[in-house]
Amino acid sequence: MPGFELWSDEERKEVNEVLETGILMRYGFDGPRKGKWKAKELEEAICKRFGSKYAQLTSSGTSALTTALAALGVGAGDEVIMPSFTFVASFEAVLSVGAVPVLVDIDQTLTLNPDAVRKAISSKTKCIMPVHMCGSMADVDALASICKEHDLLLLEDACQSIGALYKGKHVGTIGNAGTFSFDFVKTITCGEGGAVMTNDKEVYIKCDGYSDHGHDHKGADRGADLHPFLGYNYRISELHAAVGLAQIRRLDQFLEVQKQNHSQLKNILSQVPDISFRKIPDPAGDSCTFLSWFLPTEEITRAVVNEFRAQNILAGNFYWYDNNWHYARKWDHLKNGSSLSPLNDKQQAALQKLRSQDLSESDAIMSRCISSAISLLWTEDQIKEKGEKMMSVIKKLLHAAEVR
Ligand SMILES: Cc1ncc(COP(=O)(O)O)c(C=O)c1O
Repeated sequence: MPGFELWSDEERKEVNEVLETGILMRYGFDGPRKGKWKAKELEEAICKRFGSKYAQLTSSGTSALTTALAALGVGAGDEVIMPSFTFVASFEAVLSVGAVPVLVDIDQTLTLNPDAVRKAISSKTKCIMPVHMCGSMADVDALASICKEHDLLLLEDACQSIGALYKGKHVGTIGNAGTFSFDFVKTITCGEGGAVMTNDKEVYIKCDGYSDHGHDHKGADRGADLHPFLGYNYRISELHAAVGLAQIRRLDQFLEVQKQNHSQLKNILSQVPDISFRKIPDPAGDSCTFLSWFLPTEEITRAVVNEFRAQNILAGNFYWYDNNWHYARKWDHLKNGSSLSPLNDKQQAALQKLRSQDLSESDAIMSRCISSAISLLWTEDQIKEKGEKMMSVIKKLLHAAEVR
């Protein structure tokens, strides 16, 4: 995910404006900052660009998730249903508010299987958290209707899918709250940063306070602020927000290139009948950061990955099934309950469950899936060359599997 690939003078100009005032903090210092409020400006730009009533910037996508969970009132003992394929941060955020993550199987959308979600609902379930992985989206309508039926909260982790649309609405703006990550490898970046979006004013006010030690931000004197509730420091800095401000103006340009390159690579791989592609609930809304595709068996997929490695074309092609961050199968530190500070009993039980949980439906999908990251820097000729090399490896190994 490529925000950093097209670095420009616009980012430098925004950052320099902050450096000139010397006010690196987003709150206070009203005089010396000479009218420069980069974080505020970026929050307004997020609301406008993505169609959310409110946005609260944070220091990361992880802290955005933690902030959103806290603002939605998710905490000790509450269960949050989430997919087995995500980034480990989604799981960490749930633990960080004292709640209990409940992993369920994914389907061909590479995110929550609504039937698996239904089966996992218990009297403790408070929230469903789809993770819009790899630039595309979950089946939001199906999940929203489960939430409605069972009176549950919907929190969208849209950290990886900035700019993706579901039925005309931006992912991250549909549920009770949604989050973006602006870390270095996201569609647009702040270096580090995140945002919570919500259409609920109360939730927004809670996010605003929670991410800054509970400050009510009602006056100009921080020392005189009241603290209606407990909060922490998940603030973004003005320097990071300045980078994001330049990047959000360039998002449409990034998305356009991304979609063109994605479509060129997909056209090449589509020539192999044994390749199938990820199911996309709203194909027109795909932000196209990745092209995710499936081979018929795990054995062939592993052989293809090994041959890509041998031919030096594996870079940018992700076999998540073996990835230590993204797929629950390899979260050994969590399966072993390795935590520096003791977790509560229910959380420990949830981690223990990971060791024996049957996620065979997810395995059957993830073991055959490769996601190709789409670069903004590729030329047409490079995509052609890359696609053809990939195709030739795939065809060779499919043929070898047939004759065996
Ligand atoms: C799906 C998902 N959720 C949350 C995060 C956390 O974002 P950050 O790295 O900004 O903390 C990431 C980051 O990769 C992610 O991919």
